Amino acid sequence: MEISKKLSQARQYEKEESQKIESSERPTFHMYSPIGWINDPNGFSSFNGKCHLFFQYHPYSTHWGPMHWGHYTTTDFIKWELEPCALAPDSEYDKDGCFSGTALEWNGQHVLMYTGVKEVVDENGEKSTRQTQCIALGDGVNYKKLDNNPVIEADKLPAGSSLVDFRDPKIWKDENGFWSLVGSKNEDGSGQLALFHSENVIDWEFVKILDYCRNEYGKMWECPDFFELDGKQVLIVSPQFMMADGKEFHSGNNSAYFVGEYDAANVEWKREIPHMIDFGLDFYAPQTMLHEDGRRIMVGWLQNWDNYLLPDHYRWSGIMTVPREISLRDGRMIQKPVRELEKYRKNKVAYSNYQLPSNKIVELEGLNGRCMDLSVNLSQAECKSFSIHLAASESYETVITYDKDRNTISVDRTRSGMFKDLLSERSIKLEEGMENMHFRILMDKNSIELFVNDGQYAMSTLIYTPLSVDGVFFETDGNVVMDIEKFEISLN
Ligand code: FRU
Repeated sequence: MEISKKLSQARQYEKEESQKIESSERPTFHMYSPIGWINDPNGFSSFNGKCHLFFQYHPYSTHWGPMHWGHYTTTDFIKWELEPCALAPDSEYDKDGCFSGTALEWNGQHVLMYTGVKEVVDENGEKSTRQTQCIALGDGVNYKKLDNNPVIEADKLPAGSSLVDFRDPKIWKDENGFWSLVGSKNEDGSGQLALFHSENVIDWEFVKILDYCRNEYGKMWECPDFFELDGKQVLIVSPQFMMADGKEFHSGNNSAYFVGEYDAANVEWKREIPHMIDFGLDFYAPQTMLHEDGRRIMVGWLQNWDNYLLPDHYRWSGIMTVPREISLRDGRMIQKPVRELEKYRKNKVAYSNYQLPSNKIVELEGLNGRCMDLSVNLSQAECKSFSIHLAASESYETVITYDKDRNTISVDRTRSGMFKDLLSERSIKLEEGMENMHFRILMDKNSIELFVNDGQYAMSTLIYTPLSVDGVFFETDGNVVMDIEKFEISLN
């Protein structure tokens, strides 16, 4: 297949430049940017016996720029293989970016659906952009954009819909053909999700607006995902411009899920109230895939648009979360790191029934590290507060605190080594009556993912603490008994 100059340049550049990065600077078990900037996960899907994960990509700098689709594959969600860059903004209709989208396998082809972006100048000489939906077909390495692109333009939307904000198609297939759910904005500037149908991935017709944000949960809903889970239907969206309401959502970009019912025959969707997916400081634009063994697996961008922490000397920016198996329990999403991670656990250190001395910072032998899977179970917690200090020394720490009176868990990276005045703390208000707290912490050098009570809550956070700082300390003001298990994670 003939490839464009822009794509071959990107392939050449990533191949040469990614090798120049010190491996000590790279995460061990997370998917990361080869070189330059990455944001949203894209096209997370199975094809030809492998799982493919593409991503929003600007290889040439550590900041967002004209978007490409980078590409990794895996067979176990932990070891990732870099594939050549898949899409470059090299066509008239996507010359300013190949934005987010999704993928599926069809008739032996890998179908990518993405948003093409191009800048236009209107009659008054003002610049704006046009977003359209496009298709590329491939063999798992090389992808050819359709001659018919763009296959959906904003003129198919109801009158008054934005021509600018029309992006992030979620494509799926059922016995009635192909469907695509696309983020859009209506006349009042509030988000809506437009549903399209096709028999052949080329000709699409508008079906209806499946859901309206009505200025209730942010504005534009980015990166929709829509799928069946444990007998219910789930809608994931990443709303922009939310205002904190003191309950669950914070200001700015959030990622939320709605559980509901979908009547596919009549194309009717009814939802309940939304919930936050991840309560940490760094999580956005998650996307899921259905594994052939039946698991629904979700991955998110472990970063946030408003807080740019990257130290200046880095030549790569961005990692993805550990893929998470998701399920529903009592109408809530449960998230657990993929079970494949367990086969990379080494050098177990365990403490059982350990009575933590009160009002003292305690360091336990063998628990230090920056690349680990650490479980702490509180079999007794008669205290006001209990904390785990990670990447800790006298000068640095990131602290996870369970505050029993306020009934919260917080993560605080104020002293993680930040040189900028950035957001550093966030908490979860727990449901009433939680006993026997369990914390599972995945730390991979500069990231911390916390899973509370077997996946009931998740919190993902970046820290750029010097890698030599690897203390793990515990602290309480009361009577705490813990069981601890710690494993190093090694892919060798
Ligand atoms: C979400 C997002 C998407 C868009 C992409 C551009 O983070 O803004 O809506 O497609 O990033 O890189």
